[in-house]
Amino acid sequence: MASYQTIKGTYDILPDRYAEFAYVETLWQQFLSLYGYKMMRTPHLEHLGVYQKENDTSDMVTKEMFTFTINGHDYLCLRPEGTAGIIRAVIEHKLYNLYDLPLKIAYQGEMFRYERPQKGRQRQFTQLGVENIGAKSPLIDAEVIALGYFFLKTLGLKEIKVCLNSLGDQKSRLAYKAALQAYFTSYKDELCPDCQRRLAKNPLRILDCKVDRSKEFMHAAPQMSAYLTEEAKAYFAKVQSCLKRIAIPYELDERLVRGLDYYTDTVFEVISTHDNAGAQSTIFGGGRYDSLIAEMGGPELSGIGFAIGEERLVLLGEAEGIFGAKETNLDVYLINLDVENDYALEVATLLRNNGFMTEMNFYQRSLKAQFKSAERQQARFIAIVGEDERNKRTVTLKDQRNAKQESIAYDDLINYLDEILGEEENAADTH
Ligand code: HAM
Repeated sequence: MASYQTIKGTYDILPDRYAEFAYVETLWQQFLSLYGYKMMRTPHLEHLGVYQKENDTSDMVTKEMFTFTINGHDYLCLRPEGTAGIIRAVIEHKLYNLYDLPLKIAYQGEMFRYERPQKGRQRQFTQLGVENIGAKSPLIDAEVIALGYFFLKTLGLKEIKVCLNSLGDQKSRLAYKAALQAYFTSYKDELCPDCQRRLAKNPLRILDCKVDRSKEFMHAAPQMSAYLTEEAKAYFAKVQSCLKRIAIPYELDERLVRGLDYYTDTVFEVISTHDNAGAQSTIFGGGRYDSLIAEMGGPELSGIGFAIGEERLVLLGEAEGIFGAKETNLDVYLINLDVENDYALEVATLLRNNGFMTEMNFYQRSLKAQFKSAERQQARFIAIVGEDERNKRTVTLKDQRNAKQESIAYDDLINYLDEILGEEENAADTH
């Protein structure tokens, strides 16, 4: 029989790590509530046009999409990121008419990019993202960065760095684009084939090119800050003063242009500076987009957002040791020498229905082996529910903390456990 393995660039999250993902997701939900974001979910499958726009030069759109055709005419793709899908839905359902602006939308889900897989870079990965749509203000930019930054800090990550840049408004970008075109045209022959193409359409992306980034002529390339209009400069200065006011340290990085084409004004990334971060150290990235919504057929609304790579975050969290020891918290393990004895099932159901985490034995094996299982699972109590107990409707309960063993009536079992565990909880609270 054929046996299969995961497809290249995809992964299984096994039980030993699942709790780490769940922990990240629970805290993420709490942060979204603190900042007033509402979750929504859009499909993994979208029309290709949602992502592929005319003149798009990003690697993600031109090289990394999983695309296919249905019936020879429907061009579809697996979403490579969340933003365009969310904007499609915002426009389709006119969400800007249904809720107060700015819309604060959050999402979590799988994205697909045909990239060369390596640690922290997969072909299927999960993003935790937010989009704040319908208002443009430096305070919002700072607030969005704050949500991501303080989320990572609260998770316990210490070695992180916020990188910040402004791509300016439309006017700044046009001036900068012209300056870059003039500059890089003199080095055209030294540019990689992709950048030779980018030169005409989007020379900004040359700054970000994995192949050309370290070439000598890059150092003297014109810098964005010199081309920002007074308005864009003032906007960016205010974003920075807001970040200072709320104590978010950042570094300016003129080379930060981001991999996607829709950004304007503020762009940012949060990088791990941990020694084991490896090549894929960007935990999240995002920025403002002034024209994406109108370009996709919606009203003239500005937006800003970011997306966290969840797998990367968990990997970096593991490297920084933020997840702590794995605890089982098992309350009761039921021991039973006769696997046909359904009294064990009755007791387990009673315990679980009253909120006690319970495991029971299903194998015909010795008492000693079952005690070993209970100890391995760090059960707080061991309950023997054999023939004798069934006939008397009792359980023989052993408290693993003090080895005290007692016979308790079935009807008294919950009160008995509540009392002991309740007292322990109270004692823990007063310490
Ligand atoms: P992005 O920078 O392409 O931005 O992706 C955001 C994050 O997703 C990255 O920083 C990284 O952590 C994670 N990521 C990206 N590709 C992979 C991969 N192949 N494997 C594992 N993790 C990956 C966006 O996607 C924008 N939509 C963010 C945004 C939202 N901008 C505005 N709103």
